[in-house]
Amino acid sequence: MSVWYSEVMGKSFDIGLERLTGVGVPGSGETQEGGLKPPLQVAAGAESTFYLETFGCQMNDHDSEKVAGVLLTRGYRQVETPEDAKVILYNTCSIREKAAQKVFSRLGELRPAQERNGKSFNAENTEEEHRDDLPANHPNHRKMVNAGGGKIIGVLGCVAQQEGEEIFERAPWVSLVCGSASYRKLPQLIAELEAGNRRVTGLDTDTDETFETEITRRDNPWRAYLTIIEGCDKACSYCVVPFTRGPERSRASASILEEVRRLAEAGYSEVQLLGQTVNSYADPSAGKMRFSELLGAAADVRGIRRVRFTTSHPRDFGKDIVEAIEAHPNICDHVHLPVQSGSTAVLRAMARTYSREEYLEKIALMKAARRPISITTDMIVGFPGETEKDFEETLALLDEVQFDSVFAFKYSPRPNTPSLKMADAIPEEEKGQRLAILMDRQREIQRVRNETLVGETFEVMVDGKSRRENQWSGHTSSNRVMNFTSPERELLGDYVQVKVVSAMPNSLVGEMVGRA
Ligand code: 5AD
Ligand code: SF4
Repeated sequence: MSVWYSEVMGKSFDIGLERLTGVGVPGSGETQEGGLKPPLQVAAGAESTFYLETFGCQMNDHDSEKVAGVLLTRGYRQVETPEDAKVILYNTCSIREKAAQKVFSRLGELRPAQERNGKSFNAENTEEEHRDDLPANHPNHRKMVNAGGGKIIGVLGCVAQQEGEEIFERAPWVSLVCGSASYRKLPQLIAELEAGNRRVTGLDTDTDETFETEITRRDNPWRAYLTIIEGCDKACSYCVVPFTRGPERSRASASILEEVRRLAEAGYSEVQLLGQTVNSYADPSAGKMRFSELLGAAADVRGIRRVRFTTSHPRDFGKDIVEAIEAHPNICDHVHLPVQSGSTAVLRAMARTYSREEYLEKIALMKAARRPISITTDMIVGFPGETEKDFEETLALLDEVQFDSVFAFKYSPRPNTPSLKMADAIPEEEKGQRLAILMDRQREIQRVRNETLVGETFEVMVDGKSRRENQWSGHTSSNRVMNFTSPERELLGDYVQVKVVSAMPNSLVGEMVGRA
């Protein structure tokens, strides 16, 4: 079975579950001389293999595709287990503490035998403590891997940026630490490791460059991610992203559209424009294309059947985006617009730059659209100082907006963020209770909303095939997961018409009624 099969299947069937469990739902090039054993020199060639594991958001998924592209052009071959790899890379997430901890537990698995027996391992969390995160049959549930044998171990992404050279202290067997704002330097850093350097870092964030590669190895054969804006200039008081991904940098519109054209020619039918605040896009070129114009221009590219975009920030969300969706049937009718809280007081403490009422004005723009637009959001419960009344306002917002899906998280205090020092922390137990109440309420909303879709027919892009006969899955334009039956032998990558026969809170069940 090919790799994408399991990945795509896993995603298409798991998304709903993740949402309501709240589990998931984002250099200087200086070389350091450490006093430790150098990794073996790895020369690009038949022997050079890499293993790359990604944690976190779609931005990270796509960054990993680009990193893989860089390595492949250098003659490396990608392998599926760390045991088989010369170079082991973790592209990490630090948005919440649990995500960051997971990385150190993975690094613990790579600890060389001599380190395990002799020197103490000073990571705060060992893998034993976190094994429970994953069921034993999960592909990511790995056994200890001995990092001996001259493996190069690298930490990329947000934990790399946040912890920097500390990582060398906590896990001395790591030789590469590089944050996403320095990925332009990755080829150079890798060359330095190949040349025998012991430790290299890329930790600058004051860059105005974006990470574009000649070759990007995409995981999904039909849907292509495309970063149009990197970093974030908002300063939400709880969030590490401005520290880990650096300031906002937008890609030139002509270069984005050229890539969309090349993707369409290569057979991709769906493009997903990515950015932490995708709609804050500011074209650096003379034409100054607005985000909504860029959406329209991407939708006009021949061969592109779907254009998606995520994540939008409420402050920069305007009527022009709704008008672009109305004008182009192939811009998907789905907007992910994180609200975080239904209380204006909490939103102010979060420095979200909008009030509850202003958020609701954006929602009204979408509800007034000629074509129904599916609206999803992110919520944080238990932010410092969140009162019962504030939380009630969040619940009331769920009732009022009727979101199609909610990714809800317990507030997690993060290093360097202003909210770390805020008074009136909410006890963990209380956060957990609020999260459960919110998810119950939202589950019921989704159950009722999805019930109303029974009998309707939707266009579905087929991206998964079940092991069970005649069972397929895909996504509607509104990004709902549709599991459906069809006697056809081959449907993957096709667009089909599916009639909904029953509904669940996180997915629809249907039967194919024709080709789209
Ligand atoms: N604690 C909990 N959730 C967070 N998010 C971002 N930072 C934190 C934090 N410190 C959530 C927000 C954001 C999503 C990607 O992660 O809801 O929209
Ligand atoms: Fe973080 Fe706020 Fe930027 Fe989103 S908009 S990435 S929550 S700082």
